[in-house]
Amino acid sequence: MTFRPFLCPLIGLTLLAGCQTTKPAASSVMRATLKLAETQAALLLREIPVAQARKPVAAGKAPLVSPRTVDGQGNLVLVASRDWTSGFWPGYLWLLAEATGHDKWQVPARQYTALIEPEKTNATTHDMGFKVYCSFGTGYRYTQDPAYKEVLLTSARTLSTRFNPVVGAIRSWDHHQDVWGFPVIIDNMLNLELLFAATRLSGDSSFYKIAVQHANTTLKNHFRPDFSTYHVVDYNPTTGAVVTRTTHQGAAPESAWARGQAWALYGYTLMYRETRDPRYLAQAERVAGYLLNHPNLPADGVPYWDFDAPAIPNEPRDASAGALIASALYELSTYSPQAAIYRQQADKTLASLARDYTAPAGTNGGFLLLHSTGSKPGNSEIDVPLSYADYYFMEALLRQQHLATGRTVVAGRVGAGGK
Ligand code: GLY
Repeated sequence: MTFRPFLCPLIGLTLLAGCQTTKPAASSVMRATLKLAETQAALLLREIPVAQARKPVAAGKAPLVSPRTVDGQGNLVLVASRDWTSGFWPGYLWLLAEATGHDKWQVPARQYTALIEPEKTNATTHDMGFKVYCSFGTGYRYTQDPAYKEVLLTSARTLSTRFNPVVGAIRSWDHHQDVWGFPVIIDNMLNLELLFAATRLSGDSSFYKIAVQHANTTLKNHFRPDFSTYHVVDYNPTTGAVVTRTTHQGAAPESAWARGQAWALYGYTLMYRETRDPRYLAQAERVAGYLLNHPNLPADGVPYWDFDAPAIPNEPRDASAGALIASALYELSTYSPQAAIYRQQADKTLASLARDYTAPAGTNGGFLLLHSTGSKPGNSEIDVPLSYADYYFMEALLRQQHLATGRTVVAGRVGAGGK
């Protein structure tokens, strides 16, 4: 298939509607991709009960509710709601409903969203945003269901208990307590969306204040002079001092783990969306500059799993990082004078993912994208489908649609009266 990504030369949302009529190639590829996404989602819906029957859960154990990936034998891997990835499948179904305009996807979206509700009181991890915002938050944008609002508010209260005012951050992990006293990972920036939504939905500004403090602490301590980010910063929980800067999923403490850079880009873009503080916009632009000008970023825009991986170009890619970067760049393009550059890059990456990283229909366990990497150092999920790659890919597609139709609301904001 030959496909020339559409490059919109215009800057500014008011002009974006005019681009739409001149991009038939992009539209037809993306229409075909959405059709494939529906075929794959239908397959995944059939495969989930088969996988559940193959591996029954022992009495008293948490049920396996969401698909995460496929294993080496090609079997679907399901996770319990407590897994950090559990919210992506229901969230993906909500996004698919909007992107296709087919309400039928809301039925399984509701069904799988409900299975994540136990997490609203789980205070043992920072992953609340991934689990609950991506499922209930995305669902709330469509349904305005007051029951969903209650889940979001309870979840935000639970997440807030992990905030330490001395450190000025939300604690990420409770594991590795022999190594880290108060680890904060760059991924944690994504959980802040839930807190902003909670303030909008409740009028309680304490959530907003926690989010801003967390982002400011991360801005101060996570970034290197070249604006790449560390994965993990460990703090002394009593004094707030930085103890160590390192990695968990990257190639080395000083390397630039690709998904971590993507979380940083997405995180500071959403911080600007929510606060309009120009320091956050500047940071998002600097991270974008680091990524887009990096000599190890492949021409198709989909990064290797780490920008400093030792054997580039013979290293696995991470399609999840590519999807995240594309989605974040679409949103950043609506705030920045660099709009044309960011949209061009996002269009290119999305087109690459659609053309070269989608699975043939009926394969890949029902996931849409191939070639993501979960944790190379952990020898886990290397060159596989991942539920969050599909989620951010669909979000990027939706954002591209929003921009092409001149809509000013970019998917992501809950409690603001729009999708
Ligand atoms: N938040 C975990 C990861 O990005 O792998």
